[in-house]
Amino acid sequence: MKLLRFNLKLRLNLNNYMDNIRNFCVISHVDHGKSTLADRFLELTGTVEKRKMQEQYLDTMELERERGITIKLQPVRMIYRSPQTLNSKLETLNKLKTQNREIQNGLEFRTSDLEFASSEQEFVLNLIDTPGHVDFSYEVSRSLAAVEGAILLVDASKGVQAQTLANLYLAKAQGLTIIPAVNKIDLPNARTAQVKEELSHLLEIEQDEILEVSGKTGENVEKLLERVIRDVPSPKLSDYSITDYELRIKKNQSEIRNTQFNNGETRALIFDSTFDAYKGVIAYVRIFDGSFKRGDKVVSWATKAKFDVLEVGFFAPRLTLSSELSAGDIGYIATGLKDPGLIRVGDTITNAQTLNSKLETLNKPKTQNPKPKSLEFRTSDLEFTPLAGYKEPKPMVFASFFPENAEDYDLLKDALGKLKLTDASLKYEPESSAGLGRGFRLGFLGMLHVEIISERLKREFGLALIISTPSVEYSVRIAGREAAGGEPRQGRDVRIRSASLLPDPSKVESIAEPVVDIEIITPSSYLGSVMGLVSSYRNTYKATDYFGKETALLRYEMPLSEVITDFYDKLKSVSSGYASMSYEVKGMAVNDLVRLDILIAGDLVEPFSRIVPKDKAYYEGRAMVAKLKEVVPPQWFEVAIQAVIGGKVIARESIRARRKDVTGYLYGGDVTRKMKLLEKQKKGKKKMKEAGRVNLPQEVFLKMLKR
Ligand code: GTP
Repeated sequence: MKLLRFNLKLRLNLNNYMDNIRNFCVISHVDHGKSTLADRFLELTGTVEKRKMQEQYLDTMELERERGITIKLQPVRMIYRSPQTLNSKLETLNKLKTQNREIQNGLEFRTSDLEFASSEQEFVLNLIDTPGHVDFSYEVSRSLAAVEGAILLVDASKGVQAQTLANLYLAKAQGLTIIPAVNKIDLPNARTAQVKEELSHLLEIEQDEILEVSGKTGENVEKLLERVIRDVPSPKLSDYSITDYELRIKKNQSEIRNTQFNNGETRALIFDSTFDAYKGVIAYVRIFDGSFKRGDKVVSWATKAKFDVLEVGFFAPRLTLSSELSAGDIGYIATGLKDPGLIRVGDTITNAQTLNSKLETLNKPKTQNPKPKSLEFRTSDLEFTPLAGYKEPKPMVFASFFPENAEDYDLLKDALGKLKLTDASLKYEPESSAGLGRGFRLGFLGMLHVEIISERLKREFGLALIISTPSVEYSVRIAGREAAGGEPRQGRDVRIRSASLLPDPSKVESIAEPVVDIEIITPSSYLGSVMGLVSSYRNTYKATDYFGKETALLRYEMPLSEVITDFYDKLKSVSSGYASMSYEVKGMAVNDLVRLDILIAGDLVEPFSRIVPKDKAYYEGRAMVAKLKEVVPPQWFEVAIQAVIGGKVIARESIRARRKDVTGYLYGGDVTRKMKLLEKQKKGKKKMKEAGRVNLPQEVFLKMLKR
């Protein structure tokens, strides 16, 4: 009982502290101005000095800055002193005063009676900037799990777009408070009134609840922060912290479920991570219960990794040391762990000491009463209800990565482990190929993701790689052999993620591929060109809806392999950048598909093999050899590039030989010497040709990724 009272007090204090915290993120379609708005927040709160400010400050990765896109979520803690909030509190109190005077005449409030601790006007604002591109929506879903509210930003010149909708659905599913704002109102082509109408329609709210802001000029940005403080709920301790970790023993659930534990739970949700050579794996966390400080013995639930906390701190936005992180906070925990696999995004970190004392309590009845004998408490038996994480991302696109130099295999392995820390959606497994040696099969969320990871491996780890043509996952039905009595046997299905794994066509009964439901949002004026584009891809038309007056929503069913090619880029170009899309995998469908191979100098180049629709195979083959002719650097001998289906060449190009002037330094007319040298060169080339071999640099594979 005593313990309970102490905890309640602790909870009250914590709640006071938590009253002044607001955790929120900014979500939108790509390029609607999230990072620029975040810049203004950083300035306004003095988090970053004006002279140190650079555009899109939170986009720290070289690639992000170069391409002007956010790839990674980025948390930042800001301290904001709010004049408005104090005023609004005074107003409320004054109102109360008047009402009270009416009721009880003697009761007088004087302003001097009102004590506002300065902390009451000071707010801790934890903002998470998120990416907008569909390939990085897993970053968004993790950010959403760590916060209580989201600013939904819509570009005044573009209006509601596909990712606006997709991200809004995600935020709503998390039960977040949505604060809508129309951004870029300073643009000459801003359609602010119309976009507000679209948004009010979408959110079913009054238009005057939608703020008009400009992240560029700073107009109304402070009002937006005030709205965050007013509307986003402060963090609360999670429901189950008052009773229990819900320790469950697999063998005897009901008995243990009744046990109540309430002594100082600590729980933190890992929403991201990174690696530091000195501090090891750094977990980005949202603390839901209790607190963490240096030296705490903690355990991460799913991986069972135990470690002493090396350091805790906040994002300011750089990692900034602090003495403690407590419930409601967003910050980091340096683990000192060197193995990146031990910290998993979505996992819960808890305090090992608390856990041990629980274990002891649980063990007590066992010693007092030896029955039931089977009741054994091993750490591995304990099931902890971790904080609700997020849906595991499902890779959609697969590609094989092989190091150009076989010795770099371990380097690649290490690099993938480290990248996985900063990109939890990346999946990989070892793979080996007869021609290319050992490598990895990587799973991605989309084509931009493939491109970004390839670039990062090259830039951040200096790796030269051979990358296969990205593929979706196919389900191949292998024909059943005839049984002894002539009865056909049932075939079996195998899943393949690479064209090179497709069995011999004679053994294949059918091939099924993933299909998606795709939604395209476009201004009505581009409807014709968007529909024209879709018709050049395999598709099944579903419906057209109108969304607002001038915005159409087209629904199709399409094979995923069509969507992941250049469809998105083409959609952007036929609609001057206005149309946008999002998709969801619906299931598998059997289609008429064949394997297309590429031979260079007579050799099969496995990474370029792909599975294509039979009726498009000829066109695809031609397009591939034409592109290869452009991107393969000249060789010392003439090189044939062929596209082949089932042993039949369907397209061919050749790269002319590069001739080095080996006789250039000869002066005068000694023809025999010249002939001798040329003969030697010819032999050398023949040798090269015999040895194989056309050397394809990484650029060729990267260029082939972008069709
Ligand atoms: P992603 O993270 O890649 O989705 O982009 P984002 O939403 O963070 O957009 P970002 O802040 O990078 O802005 C995209 C472009 O719009 C940049 O060129 C900005 O300069 C511009 N921009 C952002 N806010 C405003 C604004 O209020 N007014 C005007 N005129 N331009 C803006």
